[in-house]
Amino acid sequence: MTVKYDKLYSVIADRNVKESALASYAGVSRNIMTRIRRNEYISMESIEKLCHALDCRVGDIIEFENEQKKLNIQNRRYLGNKYKLLDFIDETIAKYCPDTHSMLDVFAGTGVVAYHFMDRMQVITNDTLYSNYLAHVAFLSGDEVDENHLSMMICAYNQLTDKKLKPNYMSETFGNTFFCEEDCRKIGFIREDIEKKYRAKELNERERAILVTSLIYSMDKVANTCGHYDAYRKGVEFDRRFEMLPLDLSKKPKEANLFFHDDSNKLALNGDFPFADCVYCDPPYNSRNYCDLYHVLENVALWEKPEVKGEARKMDRTSLKSRYCTRSAASAFEELVRALQCRYIVLSYNNTGTKANDRSNARMTDEDIMRILSAKGKVRVCSKKYKAFTTGKSKNSTNEERLFVCEVKR
Ligand SMILES: C[S@@+](CC[C@H](N)C(=O)[O-])C[C@H]1O[C@@H](n2cnc3c(N)ncnc32)[C@H](O)[C@@H]1O
Repeated sequence: MTVKYDKLYSVIADRNVKESALASYAGVSRNIMTRIRRNEYISMESIEKLCHALDCRVGDIIEFENEQKKLNIQNRRYLGNKYKLLDFIDETIAKYCPDTHSMLDVFAGTGVVAYHFMDRMQVITNDTLYSNYLAHVAFLSGDEVDENHLSMMICAYNQLTDKKLKPNYMSETFGNTFFCEEDCRKIGFIREDIEKKYRAKELNERERAILVTSLIYSMDKVANTCGHYDAYRKGVEFDRRFEMLPLDLSKKPKEANLFFHDDSNKLALNGDFPFADCVYCDPPYNSRNYCDLYHVLENVALWEKPEVKGEARKMDRTSLKSRYCTRSAASAFEELVRALQCRYIVLSYNNTGTKANDRSNARMTDEDIMRILSAKGKVRVCSKKYKAFTTGKSKNSTNEERLFVCEVKR
């Protein structure tokens, strides 16, 4: 994405002002005017001075090229994401959960399910991963943001040259593993800069979430992995270089949405979740913890710069491990279901069951699910054949995805 100032020149021509007169009236240097002529990034402060002098808005004098290269919420590789099943989920909820005006997506992952419904109802999301929470705030919140300012920042980040960037936490921790050394320097610099600007109150919470999400999604586009961060390919040429892309924020929420990032059971037992007509549950199915698969992106989101261990450079993830990935998944689910305050519970759970290797085996049996949900209300099962995204090793890529719909007893 690059910045263009053609609109500024139209305004100048319309008003019959000379460039040099505008520069001195606005209080910007000749150097800034040269940068404008070359379509280079200038600071937000200079843009504001020009707008003030011309009595116009930022969008009246600058625009961005390559607007089509915006990132959508589904544009990241995420195991078990339900993007391709949205129609099935939508039809099922429309048919069996009438009068649903609010939805709690309790294991929201990428947030695509809540995002799908957010123009029709209030949505509430939760996920233990902070990287997911930030994406939810970025894509699903209606809080005001200055998109032009964010675009200018992204332009400036993309114009950073390798030579100017010093080694930093990212390059020292991940250099030439998932990303090349130079890209790591850039990513580390950008993440630090976002945090600095947020602490200086130059960015609000959602603006910070948008920039971090755009950084994480852009990283995922070029990462030297097969979709997750358990391992990287050794000795490869890093042919795809990092470029930060903006997010597509054109879809607006109907209502003020709410976002959580904690263990679902803890929140439900504490009564922290508000009542929702429908609770959509999409827990992990097997023993693969999401914090292990996406640890690099989570590390960048949290930005606490922890020590890392092992070939894959993983930080300590003890507090992020999920009971849903263990043999006690059924008792965790039972505890959650008992505590939920809602009219309907819709559970996604596929049938990898006994077909695949042990690590891929589903942690809850159908008998567990039916027993737990039936204690809460009337249950029906809807199913659909589905070609799943796998992390590469499993040959079992055609699954039957099921939705267990429970109409809660009043
Ligand atoms: C199957 S994925 C959800 C995918 C999501 N529906 C989507 O379409 O992207 C399961 C999610 O549950 C989260 N998770 C695991 N255990 C959790 C817990 N105890 N509380 C909240 N979230 C949890 C994981 O981080 C992961 O993002």
